[in-house]
Amino acid sequence: MKKTTFLISYLLIFSNLLQLQAQDLIPKPESFKTNGEVFQLTSDVKIIYSGELKKMAIYLEESLSPATGWDFDIIKTESLLGSTISISIDNSKNIETEGYQLSITNKSVTIVGSNPAGVFNGIQTLLQMLPVEIYSKQRQKNVDWKIEGAEITDAPLYPWRGMMLDASRYFYDKDYVLHLIDMMAMYKMNVLHLHLIDDAGWRLEIKKYPKLTSVGAWRGEGKERVGGYYTQEDIKEIVKYAGLRNVDVIPEIEIPAHTLAAIAAYPWLSCTGDEKVVPAQHFISRDLYCVGKESTFEFLENVFKETFELFPSKYLHVGGDEARYDRWKECEHCQALKNELGLESEKDLQVYFTKRIQKMAAKYGKTIVGWDEIIERGLENKAVGMVWHDQSKAVSGAENGHDLVMALTGYCYFDVAESAIPGEVKAATWLKPISLEKVYSLNPMIEGLDEKFKPQVLGAHATLWSDQFIHGTILQEIAPINENRSEKYFDYLTFPRMAALAEVCWTPRNLQSWDDFEKRMKTHYNRFDVAGFGYRVPQPKLISKKEVELCFEIVLENVVNGAEIRYSTDGIPANVYSEIYTSPVKVENLNQFQAITVVNRHQYSLPLYFPEKYDKFKKYGKLVAEWNPGNINRKEFDVFEINVTGKVDQNGIYELAFWFTGGTHRLEIEKIEVFKNGDKITEDNHPAFTGGKSKNNIYSFEINNYETGAAFTIKAKVRGDIGNNSNGAVFIKLK
Ligand code: ACM
Ligand code: ZN
Repeated sequence: MKKTTFLISYLLIFSNLLQLQAQDLIPKPESFKTNGEVFQLTSDVKIIYSGELKKMAIYLEESLSPATGWDFDIIKTESLLGSTISISIDNSKNIETEGYQLSITNKSVTIVGSNPAGVFNGIQTLLQMLPVEIYSKQRQKNVDWKIEGAEITDAPLYPWRGMMLDASRYFYDKDYVLHLIDMMAMYKMNVLHLHLIDDAGWRLEIKKYPKLTSVGAWRGEGKERVGGYYTQEDIKEIVKYAGLRNVDVIPEIEIPAHTLAAIAAYPWLSCTGDEKVVPAQHFISRDLYCVGKESTFEFLENVFKETFELFPSKYLHVGGDEARYDRWKECEHCQALKNELGLESEKDLQVYFTKRIQKMAAKYGKTIVGWDEIIERGLENKAVGMVWHDQSKAVSGAENGHDLVMALTGYCYFDVAESAIPGEVKAATWLKPISLEKVYSLNPMIEGLDEKFKPQVLGAHATLWSDQFIHGTILQEIAPINENRSEKYFDYLTFPRMAALAEVCWTPRNLQSWDDFEKRMKTHYNRFDVAGFGYRVPQPKLISKKEVELCFEIVLENVVNGAEIRYSTDGIPANVYSEIYTSPVKVENLNQFQAITVVNRHQYSLPLYFPEKYDKFKKYGKLVAEWNPGNINRKEFDVFEINVTGKVDQNGIYELAFWFTGGTHRLEIEKIEVFKNGDKITEDNHPAFTGGKSKNNIYSFEINNYETGAAFTIKAKVRGDIGNNSNGAVFIKLK
């Protein structure tokens, strides 16, 4: 195919081939029956609504109008002759909360919801049943706006289908928040949790405490100064926009830790009262709110009052994670309170803190939500625990009578890379990759949780943390994104994984199937394209890899509608001009093979390939670096930097092994130094070498102050012996 026709043909492919989209719904509905009819959307179609659904009718009209180019009449009436799309609420039909019935015939589309949320969800299903171009903001000509006739009954499996945005460590402007709400709405996700406050930034305008945003919302000096905050007007706009899209916006006002930005603004909030600055590096501050001073509670109540005016949600998220108590242990006020209350530990002081905040929130009719630390013990009144650690936290929280939302690090931390393929977009590196399939495998009723706790499991929640965006880390320049802006990164990290989470939270378990989901996803990438949503292009799917006559026969499947698979067999990275895959490929040397999914010249996947290189070094742990003539000196010892973030993932003794793999010169090593967030924490100083023979080439060091999210690097002093024609690799393992 000629390059110039590439994009055009891609667009034509998906508009012509698939007029009837009904079988691609995500999340898959509870019940779906085709009826053989077809509804034709034309400019004459009228939108009719009953009761209080005028705003929803306008939303529907505004969803259909840009792409079709037609203005549809909106009429309040019971029935009307002619072609209609009608929306209504009917409480007599026993439709579940947020559920709907959608009927599509030759003449009409009828959406009946149990409540406005149900009608909204029915509208999202209808939009997915139209040709994918319906999501375009521009008029799409030559599209036949047909909808396959069907009878659908649907309702969510779980009431809580959430996303968290960490606006503290990286400030997303209002427009990005609205964009994220649109992304959520497409998949019937209904909770947006704004992580507004952390050590690295306070993002909510509080009129009584202007320094929270004049000081606490900014970090760095001069040209490096970055930050921002949501004005109260911004929040009103976000909440209104979300409300119309069935998204409940929950603010997180974190206590007691992760609060350095507030302390930088008002030092009297801390135990020491020392002046602080908003940090420009990620770390979890030891400074936290002083629990022993009443002024802390007055401050929080005033903050909550203004917060509750802005957020109608019945929930307040109070954080509660990762508090370290060094300051409380040394503070006369905190210690006096501990003695007065007869508490045994500082942990009990945190329980006391949370209880008081819970009571305060309850006065305003709010239920508190917090990370799983708050539901472990001590809190008598019901709260919602966001389970991020593991099963044991879920079980103890449930036994203590709390509700649970699953935000498990192994499934729901969308700041983690989707794969370990070199070049993969990532923010956090302290956790193993979380693939689309891994997200899809989440069951919010996690193993080990007794069936009797089912009513307490509200759903699941993905987190888009941005703590790794404040290092000043230069984000990788990734071709599929080709833009070094965090917002694009966050789209990429969100899609398609959010679609998987949506189905996990919505679709009955017996209808969930990874293979079926993967097939339905094919056209959803097209929807992301027309809607202007960023996403990760999936690699081609490997169907089989069989040994045939001294070769391997590789069978692939394209998982993106309208895209191509291109491949190479000569070790040169597959690119947008490589051979097009049309049938099984035979290759002699598996590790010379690569294949990519090509959506268009600017949008393509990471390679599917078969790495084998370091199998024999497996026992030395995980690969962390490679050296070659290009990155080591001859004769002079020089620093060879090794990023071990994510490989150092707990306290313990680690072994770092250097192994020569080829070349004419061995590698000499003088010593290694270990750094956490840029500060040296330990070293192993001894001479070693690795070549044809190796001596003392394993270094060891101990980590005893591990923190989630911290960056760990190792600086090794190395040189090539005589010359630098040396190649090898470095591996790490926990002893
Ligand atoms: C968390 O990741 N600290 C909730
Ligand atoms: Zn104190």
